[in-house]
Amino acid sequence: MFQALQEQAPDILLQLIKLHRADPRPDKIDVGVGVYRDQLGTTPVFGAVKTAEAQLLEQQSSKSYLGADGDIGFVERLAPIVFGERRAISDGLWGLQTPGGTGALRLAADLIARANPEATIWLWTPTWPNHPPILRDAGLRMTAFPAYDVASSTLDWAAIENALSNAKAGDALLIQAGCHNPTGADPNADQWRRIGEICQKQGLLPLIDSAYQGLGNGLDEDVAGLRILVDAVDEAIITYSCDKNFGLYRDRVGALWVKSGLKRLEAVRSNLFELARAMWSMPPDHGAAVVRLILESDTLTAAWRSELADMRERINAIRAALSSADRGLSFIANQRGLFAMLPLSPEQVQRLRYEHGIYMAPSGRANLAGLTMQDIPRFVSAMQSVM
Ligand SMILES: Cc1ncc(COP(=O)(O)O)c(C=O)c1O
Repeated sequence: MFQALQEQAPDILLQLIKLHRADPRPDKIDVGVGVYRDQLGTTPVFGAVKTAEAQLLEQQSSKSYLGADGDIGFVERLAPIVFGERRAISDGLWGLQTPGGTGALRLAADLIARANPEATIWLWTPTWPNHPPILRDAGLRMTAFPAYDVASSTLDWAAIENALSNAKAGDALLIQAGCHNPTGADPNADQWRRIGEICQKQGLLPLIDSAYQGLGNGLDEDVAGLRILVDAVDEAIITYSCDKNFGLYRDRVGALWVKSGLKRLEAVRSNLFELARAMWSMPPDHGAAVVRLILESDTLTAAWRSELADMRERINAIRAALSSADRGLSFIANQRGLFAMLPLSPEQVQRLRYEHGIYMAPSGRANLAGLTMQDIPRFVSAMQSVM
């Protein structure tokens, strides 16, 4: 059975974790792995999550099956955070719980492959390295287009418009909602409106991936573009991860919403059910129940919002400090989220690791939350020494 299998290259970021762990240097720095870290270098459980978990332990009377759509209360409570108070889960917008943002993306990919096997997915690059394999494994075709200009560290708007003008009706555009991974560069409101116009005019389905709401400028601010785009089109898919903004990474908490005409909604809904049922039958419950309990309680919601604000402020303080430490890094203050693309070659990244104990993805993507304020002078001078 297994003779024809080719060995696959190991995941670079997972390899980096191992190398960093084995490095004995006490002042080593890890900006490789994409998780939030506090000033002490830890990824703690939110206080609001701990309280909700204690309540869950106390109150949960059954672990019987829920259903392929998971905890509906979770989806209903999360929807206003994503789409705004004015929008209920009606008007052709329907959602279900998924195993993390990754599960939502895979479900979205399978739905598109079923609806239109000829679809091409237009891939805004660079992007999260797991996007292409998720789409590929669902059997979808992809066309990657450059959306970021490395020289100016800004979006390459001409390249984006040019690429999208070649999309055909029935294709989809995979676009991140905000705090872009890996560049930190997001469209502005006018650009979101223009993307909406293009999608609507050309029959291009926006597949909007939101994984970092609240880690940029604020909960509402970080999905302002998503809301503009959803309002501008008749059909859209939104995939969502609670794993960063609730710190629930390994509990795998996510959701998927579809916007479609009311006439098609039942067909969409039943296909999503069938696909989810065949893949994971039903999503893991614990993390979603925790998020629901937080969002059902005004006190816990306020605590969660405040913890998230502290994380955001820390990330933005690191951005400001890096940007003022070296003129060549000034672009970092204008971008948002955990990540920035540092102007480093793979060889320079390797030298940072060997000579300075600084661990980073070979692409130069750095998780800024991996730095403490005290690390910044050493980090910047190490970068300068290899450049
Ligand atoms: C852009 C993007 N989308 C989706 C995800 C998936 O998140 P999850 O851990 O919830 O599967 C990530 C995780 O790093 C991400 O960076």
